[in-house]
Amino acid sequence: MKKKRILSGMRPTGKLHLGHLVGALGNWAVLQDDYECFFMVADWHALMSEYVNPSKMKEYVIDNVVDWISCGVSVDKSAIFVQSDVGAHLDLFAILSCLVPLGWLQRCPTYKEQLRELKQKEITTYGFLGYPVLQAADILIYQAECVPIGEDQLPHLELTREIARRFNSLYKTKVLRDPQPLLTSFPRFLGLDGRKMSKSYDNCIYLSDSKDLVKKKTMSMITDPKRIKLTDNGHPDKCNVCSYYKVFAPELKEEVAKKCSHAEIGCTDCKRKIGDILIERLSPIQEKRNKLLSDKQQILDIINKGNKKANQLTSAILADVKKAMGL
Ligand code: TRP
Repeated sequence: MKKKRILSGMRPTGKLHLGHLVGALGNWAVLQDDYECFFMVADWHALMSEYVNPSKMKEYVIDNVVDWISCGVSVDKSAIFVQSDVGAHLDLFAILSCLVPLGWLQRCPTYKEQLRELKQKEITTYGFLGYPVLQAADILIYQAECVPIGEDQLPHLELTREIARRFNSLYKTKVLRDPQPLLTSFPRFLGLDGRKMSKSYDNCIYLSDSKDLVKKKTMSMITDPKRIKLTDNGHPDKCNVCSYYKVFAPELKEEVAKKCSHAEIGCTDCKRKIGDILIERLSPIQEKRNKLLSDKQQILDIINKGNKKANQLTSAILADVKKAMGL
């Protein structure tokens, strides 16, 4: 049976952290066995918010791809490519821009949220409003059937489906396919302070953090605020450290939760232990990472290979799109 096709992407705006591993990369590494996968560094999307100071992006592109591979994305099974190296994304973006009503974009909940949250960034631009149109083009130019994403991206997928339907009905075609979301099983992974793990909150454990830094960071984690003394019973269901056990040491989670709720283990010991577990988990990733980083040309070759595969497929689909329009 022919494998279904997947397209997903990540913006190269910084180093990757545990949130990326739990929310995306772990999932990508599993999916590539059952799907034909295209994984993209979404550098155009990054530029839409980072255009004032984009000079570090080039470095993040390489660094992120290195992390993807170190976390199990396979060069043989999947195509790893860079959005701006595959021209058809922008071609379809331009085509779709002609037929997407402004209201759809102005009403998009992620757009309204970003305008509220990213006040320090001037994103009231023409380009940023069109962010979801480019994302739709990314997906539709592969005729991707499935898109692994986090919950936060669902409005963009819904828009993608609406845009595909509008295109298909305008030109009486079926060339653009309705994609389905593939949500990660662990949708919300929180940072050291209990908020969403994010660079801008300075609450991340990075995949590249040293052992000492991981130790220091885990010891600083916020635990159950109601547990003040060691003899107080804890509430593991309300403790972020406990959710780290759930992800990184599920076999210990029940035991630790039980001990915590009976005050048989203190937060310090609990955090020390999860710190050790994280260090152990990150160690093979970092080993692979360091090896890859020592041969940058190899990474460039991997990207070139992915670009080629992506260019081949998308130029054929772009030709069909134009044909459907009578262009
Ligand atoms: N907007 C996505 C994010 O911030 C990144 C992205 C760009 C993407 N194009 C995509 C994700 C296409 C899935 C499919 O996470």
